[in-house]
Parts: sequence; C-alpha cells; structure tokens
Amino acid sequence: MIKISPSVLASDFSCLGSESVRMENGGADYLHLDVMDGKFVPNITFGAPVIKAIRKHTSLVFDVHLMIENPLAYIEDFAKAGADIITFHIESASPAKETVDKILECGCKASISVKPATPVEEVFPYLDKLSMVLIMTVEPGFGGQSYMYEMADKIKALRSEIERRGLSVDIQVDGGINEKTVEHAANAGANVLVAGSAVFNAQDSAQAIATLRTMAESVYSAQ
Ligand code: DX5
Ligand code: ZN
Repeated sequence: MIKISPSVLASDFSCLGSESVRMENGGADYLHLDVMDGKFVPNITFGAPVIKAIRKHTSLVFDVHLMIENPLAYIEDFAKAGADIITFHIESASPAKETVDKILECGCKASISVKPATPVEEVFPYLDKLSMVLIMTVEPGFGGQSYMYEMADKIKALRSEIERRGLSVDIQVDGGINEKTVEHAANAGANVLVAGSAVFNAQDSAQAIATLRTMAESVYSAQ
C-alpha cells in the first residue's frame, strides 16, 4: 500500500548507478527520476539517455516525473529508456488525453501531476486511465524546499473522488516529505511518498526509508 520513492535529485549525480543500487538495497519501492527542461521549470537535470544508463543497474520501478514543456513528444523515448510509471504535468503544453493514451500505448503506467496552484479537479476527467496522481507539495524545480501543509485539502478531495468512483489510483506527494511531514500527507490520503533530501542526506538511507514507511503505515492502520 505505502510506496517509498527516493528522488535521485538529491543523490550524487556522478554515480547514479551505485546510488540507485543503494536505494534498492535500502528497501525503496520506486526510484523517482526528476526530468527538468529549463523551460517548464527553471532548472535542468537529465533526460532519457541518463535514465537508460541507470536502468542497467537496478530493477526498481522507475517513477519518471516529467517537468517539461512538451511531454507528449518524448513519451516514447522515456518508455524505451526503461520508465515504468510516467508522470506529466497537467499545466504542460501537451494535450492531456493524447499524452495519457501515448503513455499507455507505450506500455507504461500513466500519472498526471498538479502544481500547488492548480485545482486537483483538473485531472478528474482522466482518472479512469491513471495509475497515479502526483500532488506537488512544493513548487516544482528544486529539491530541499518546505512541505506545503495546505495541499492536504487537494489530497483529501482526490482521495474521496477515487473512492466515490471505486478506482484504485495511487496518490503521490512530492516535495518536503520527511519525518516531520510524512504523517500529515498520509493522513490526508497520500500513499506514494517521494523523498529526496530526507533519504539521500540521511546518515543511514535504509533507516530513513524504513522510518518514513513505518510512520505512514501507522497512520493507515489507525484509520
Ligand atoms: C521537485 C522534485 C522533487 C524533489 C523532492 O521539483 O519534483 O522530486 O526532488 O526533493 P525533497 O524531498 O528534497 O523536497
Ligand atoms: Zn519529482
């Protein structure tokens, strides 16, 4: 039920292969790969060739978060590079329906993300085809920012819509997730937790992953 997805944005980029193995051995479920193009967000990270290179080192589920202006044009590249789940932004320039269909056609799971100012209702027309929805809990672009507690209302609204329709769509949160904020996100209804700095900057990353998981699970078991 709870999935922990360490974001390599906070890792040592000079050794992404061994960093991904470290996450796999540390008990991560997914590997979160933040693709930024310097247009949709004011930062540039990496693209499909780098993901393809990491793919050789780990069998973790690749959770690819596209923060790019025109995701539709690159879906096939990311699928071929080894993406398992592809998330794009509803605020991007690509038509959402076509982009979701393209992701599914390429054999990946589809997910849509909303930035903090975007109402979550904007993804509702596509929910039936989605495996996951990503609610950003910081402005996308950079790691190490503070979790926005006010996103809880969006998480709750999405959780109740998913339940109302009898779907099994995961809710991912991304940005500022750590030991102080994870329970708040889980309590609102998030079950896939992205963590960059909280995992990679920890003295013991395996311990950090285990702690986040235990804290989130305890919220669910108390409900
Ligand atoms: C931000 C990225 C996040 C980021 C999270 O645009 O989408 O995945 O790496 O980093 P932390 O967990 O440090 O806030
Ligand atoms: Zn991300």
